Amino acid sequence: MIIRPRRLRRTSTIRRMVKETCIRVDDLIFPIFVKHGKGEREPIPSMVGHYQLSVDELVKEAEDVWSLGIPAIILFGLPGVKDKLGSEAYARDGIVQKAVAAVKERVPELVVLTDVCLCQYTDHGHCGIIKDGQVDNDATLEILSRVAISHAEAGADFVAPSDMMDGRVRAIRETLDRDGFKDTGILSYAVKYASSFYGPFREAADSKPQFGDRKSYQMDPANAREAIKEALLDIEEGADIIMVKPALPYLDIIHQVRARIHLPVAAYNVSGEYAMVKAAEQRGWIDGEEVMMEMLLSIKRAGADLILTYFAKDVARILT
Ligand code: PBG
Repeated sequence: MIIRPRRLRRTSTIRRMVKETCIRVDDLIFPIFVKHGKGEREPIPSMVGHYQLSVDELVKEAEDVWSLGIPAIILFGLPGVKDKLGSEAYARDGIVQKAVAAVKERVPELVVLTDVCLCQYTDHGHCGIIKDGQVDNDATLEILSRVAISHAEAGADFVAPSDMMDGRVRAIRETLDRDGFKDTGILSYAVKYASSFYGPFREAADSKPQFGDRKSYQMDPANAREAIKEALLDIEEGADIIMVKPALPYLDIIHQVRARIHLPVAAYNVSGEYAMVKAAEQRGWIDGEEVMMEMLLSIKRAGADLILTYFAKDVARILT
């Protein structure tokens, strides 16, 4: 007698019954780039199907996202001016602050997350304040807390610090609580690697560092134990959701973090992961839709509860 696992693969109905993992629309968070202006819908060359949107266009996009059943968006802002401190990042009338308020007014139930970071807003393109040629951790915390408060004031449901400074989750949590934003959550980019997969994003967000790189604050791709340290620290500091980023080259990390913590785990299927699929699809080298579903499934199977992905609308169209 031979054991026949193929019996469970014989028909599509049987396969449906024994499927272990599935992607739900509820798992998806859609990233959107927003800029000043009116009626603007500027295509991002390296991210096919994505745009830098002005606030009026963003509101339409948010309605579209909500009507597809996607529960959440995360906003990235393109400021009007960049300076040393990234001051538009915490301006009351900054681009993200205006965008959040507009979306919340039109689609109040859509969960709005905001990326809290300085790299798009600083003239040097680093995620923190520069002192003596170095990114100064503690001086940055104060600015990040101001950014978080300004997003909370505008109505953000979650702020998502992505800068990788030490102690930023605690600093932001304490400031939010002190200023009366007890219900504003923190999705922490807790485990964020210094990755080359962010290339298209940096073009889309105009956030390339003007000198050096991000290796003194983002994590070394070689390290896994350190991921657990970062995740546990951010939980201690008050994070509500822990994120691993990028996703695909770090499935082992997602798996290990999932096994070790009891908060929801998010994974960021980043711009480079998206661009590779789109580029190969355009050349007819892969079936883009099938590759997309297989990639996202692998991220869920690794243990992610939530996935931030530029594919969210495409997936939602397939699932609904
Ligand atoms: C800001 C930020 C980055 C991404 C999200 N937030 C870029 C970076 O750290 O350089 C990357 C997202 C993507 O590639 O899709 N710090």
